Amino acid sequence: MCGIVGYIGKKRAAPVLIDGLKKLEYRGYDSAGIAVMDGDNMMVIKRCGRVAALDEVRGLSGTIGIGHTRWATHGTPSERNAHPHCYGRIAVVHNGIIENAARLRATCEARGEVFVSDTDSEVAAHIIAHYFETKNDLLLAVHCAAKEFSGSFALAVLAVGEDEIVCARRASPLIVAEGEGEGLVASDIPALAAKGRRAYVLEDGELARLTREKVQIFDADLALRLREPYILNETELSPGKGRYAHFMRKEIEEIPDAVRNSLFLPDMARNSRVCDVLCHAYYFDIVACGTAYHSGLCFACAAERLLRVPTRVHIASEYRYTDPIVPRGTLTIAVSQSGETADTLAAARLARERASSVIAVTNVARSSISRLADVTVLTGAGREVAVAATKSFQAQLATLYSLLAVLAKQKNIPFFPLENFSDLTKETIQKSECIAGWSSYFLDARSVFFLGRGADRCAAMEGSLKLKEITYLPSEGYAAGELKHGTLALVDSRTPVVAIITDPRLIDKTMNAVHEVYARGAKVFLVTCFPELCAQKEVAASVLIPACDPELSPMLSVIPLQLLAYHVALALGNDPDKPRNLAKSVTVE
Ligand code: F6R
Repeated sequence: MCGIVGYIGKKRAAPVLIDGLKKLEYRGYDSAGIAVMDGDNMMVIKRCGRVAALDEVRGLSGTIGIGHTRWATHGTPSERNAHPHCYGRIAVVHNGIIENAARLRATCEARGEVFVSDTDSEVAAHIIAHYFETKNDLLLAVHCAAKEFSGSFALAVLAVGEDEIVCARRASPLIVAEGEGEGLVASDIPALAAKGRRAYVLEDGELARLTREKVQIFDADLALRLREPYILNETELSPGKGRYAHFMRKEIEEIPDAVRNSLFLPDMARNSRVCDVLCHAYYFDIVACGTAYHSGLCFACAAERLLRVPTRVHIASEYRYTDPIVPRGTLTIAVSQSGETADTLAAARLARERASSVIAVTNVARSSISRLADVTVLTGAGREVAVAATKSFQAQLATLYSLLAVLAKQKNIPFFPLENFSDLTKETIQKSECIAGWSSYFLDARSVFFLGRGADRCAAMEGSLKLKEITYLPSEGYAAGELKHGTLALVDSRTPVVAIITDPRLIDKTMNAVHEVYARGAKVFLVTCFPELCAQKEVAASVLIPACDPELSPMLSVIPLQLLAYHVALALGNDPDKPRNLAKSVTVE
């Protein structure tokens, strides 16, 4: 949700900022802008659309500047609403939502100040400028202003005539770094990564001052904080697309590695903190959003069926406002690829307040969720660039199923050999090649249904989310048996149906739903591990995936669904890596 960069040093700032913003583009790509200062001359350039639109100003002189790539919250995507926002001598880039912006804006307008955008962020520029006039010190001005803001913010601020960048953070991520004669700030590591740079993750309430000599961090009372740096290395650089046309395609191919690197086998866990926390749990609560929520649903099927542990799966944005009941012995598992999703963080915090232990399952070490949890288990998906989650889903399953394998070992319950999954995912990718041929049937669809029961229903929900995200086709993942209770009214010849059947106990039951939709003219596509079903007359096309324990089958059955979404998006002319309206890291409520 919006990416921030800042640079002060020996190099020309504009190219550093623009290259940094490109690495943060997954956070938003409605519009982008930079402010660069050359002596007392502040130049502010904003463009609608992708960061590449700023390339024409790479030649700007000046060695200090800030930049922003936007995902609109307040105000439409437009140059007027793009950052940096300026007032008086101040320029600001902001990520987050200043929730009392309307009231603050009214105060500023009562002083006769004029606003030129619809954003909450412009308010920050006004309030900081107001304090800067009286305090004449940028750090003090940002400190005083920050106290007036409610909501979330990561800010980087420049002032005409001041050779420094001041930053502040509450709830939105911000990392500062120093190299030889340079200071940097960014919303995420890849925009900072260069071998040997020393990085510091700002904590909530902290501020930082970046000069050409040093980076200083201050707490909420402006006391200097000393902290061990974390040394950046090249592996944190943004990956390229390699031989693939899109990151999404490449990331689907990386699923077997992601799974292998995310497994957490019982022997590795022996005597670990994870093992301890797991073995004391009577109930599991999952808190997560989007694809991670679907991983949680898959985990719940397996946890209840295979280990008989009662498990509830909560949409994090709902959990946090439901006054949740958290019985003694509850272990809360917060699942988040980015580790920065605002709702998941708030839900995990609430679970802790209610005396639950919290395990974070995340793909990002040092992320906010891992700092909040009792224990973190890292998934090994590697960096995921495409906005639509693919390999991180299977990586989350590998880690979550591994937790169950640890518990199964403790309880002497036999468990599917998870180490087979890497090869099985590879085989599934190969067997799904034919999916490209399905896409023509989806181009004129009015809506699409994904049907399944049990774990297949969880897979259906994730398949549907993927399709919606990157094709913009209305779609639903539905319980196969529930269709006839109302939703069947929507089905006709322009409603392709994808059925997922991987559980031998449920073949006939889900096939009933297939007959029902076929009878209403729907074309039916099948993902299954049962060859005999592929030959049925109702089935227009099928993918035969390898068999595994049915409770764990979403690990495999979601792969063809990810590929289906990818191919339909391409056929519709959409960019699968950067779907409209979406951003990868959702750091606002
Ligand atoms: C879907 C997708 C989102 C995320 C959700 C949670 O493809 O990427 O639904 O899964 O925003 O994000 P994390 O896992 O970073 O908490």
